[in-house]
Amino acid sequence: MTVKHLKILHQHNSSINQTFEKDGEDVIQGLTKKTKSLPPKYFYDDRGSELFEKICDLPEYYPTRTEAWILNEYADEIATITGSCELVELGSGSSTKTHFLLNAYQKAANLLTESIPDAFSYIPIDVSGGILKTSVLHLQQKYPDLSIEGLLGTYDEALLYLGKNHQRSRMIFFLGSSIGNFNAEECNDFLGRVSHALTKGDYFLLGIDLQKPKAILEAAYNDSQGVTAAFNLNMLSHLNWRFQGNFDLDLFTHQAIYNEIDHQIEMYLYARSPHQVSLDILDLKVQFETGESILTEISRKFDLETVKAQLRSQGLQTIKIWTDPQKWFGLVLCQV
Ligand code: AVI
Repeated sequence: MTVKHLKILHQHNSSINQTFEKDGEDVIQGLTKKTKSLPPKYFYDDRGSELFEKICDLPEYYPTRTEAWILNEYADEIATITGSCELVELGSGSSTKTHFLLNAYQKAANLLTESIPDAFSYIPIDVSGGILKTSVLHLQQKYPDLSIEGLLGTYDEALLYLGKNHQRSRMIFFLGSSIGNFNAEECNDFLGRVSHALTKGDYFLLGIDLQKPKAILEAAYNDSQGVTAAFNLNMLSHLNWRFQGNFDLDLFTHQAIYNEIDHQIEMYLYARSPHQVSLDILDLKVQFETGESILTEISRKFDLETVKAQLRSQGLQTIKIWTDPQKWFGLVLCQV
C-alpha cells in the first residue's frame, strides 16, 4: 500500500542541501562553545524515533502512559467542547495517543444527524519520514473516512505552510510535553507561531509534564534498561551519517540530572577520555577532555499557573485543564 497523502515540506521552503547547511550551522555553533551542546532535533533520525517509542513504554517513563490515561478519560469531553474540527498534530510520531482523540472525534461525527463529508480531518506533522509514513498508512486503514494529510517537516515549516487559511475550525495539538524541550525564549516564539496559525475561536491542546520529586524524574531519564542512554548516544550516530563524522559512541556516557532551580531535566553525554572528533562535511574538528559534557536536551517541568500566563500572553485563553489523580501531567485546552 502506498501513502497517498504525504507532503514533504523541505521542498517548499528550500532545497534539501540548503536545509542541511542550516542544520549543520547549529552543530558547529553548539560544539565550538565553551560549554558544548547539541540541538535535540538531532535525536530524531529513524533509529532515534524508534528508540523514543521504546522510551514511551518504559516502566520509569511515566509521561506517556499518564497523558494517555488523561486522554482516554477526557477525549470525549474535548471533542464535545471543540466540536468537529481540523485536527493538526505537531510532532505526531507514531500517533499512538492520537487514537483516543480520533476515536472521540469520530464518535462525535457519527452522532451528527446528517452525514457531513470530511466531518473531521487529521494532519500529522513530523520530521521523521519513516515513522510518519507508517502511521499515516496505519491510520488510513483504521479510519477509512478520515481525511488525512501527513506533513514531513519541522514545526516551523508546517505552521508556515498551514498558515491561517482554513475553512473550518482548527485544533492544533502538541502532546507529550515536547514543549518542555524548548527553553523559555523558544517556547514563547513557538506559542506565538502556533497562535499565528489559528484564527479567533480555534483551539490549542497542550500536554505538559508537571513538577514532581527529583527521584521520580531522574529515574524516568536514566532508565534501568539503558534505552534513554541509547537514545542519547544515537544522536552521535546521526551526526556521523549526516555530516560524515567519526564520533565513537563507546567514548561517551549518558547521564540525566534534574536541575531543581530551573525545574528541568538536563541530558548530557560525557566524554570518557581525551580525544578528537571530526565532522568532515562541516569541516569541523572538536577536542574533548575527560569528563567534558555535551548538553543534548533540556526537559522542563511546569506549574500550571505559569503555563496559563504564558499561553495568555500569546492570545491563548485557557478554558479547561485535565490532570491525572497524582497531578503528574496536565492537558491544557485553550482557545484564541
Ligand atoms: C520528546 N520529549 C518530550 C521527551 C522528554 O521527556 O523530554 C524526550 C525524552 N528525552 C529523554 N526521554 C525522553
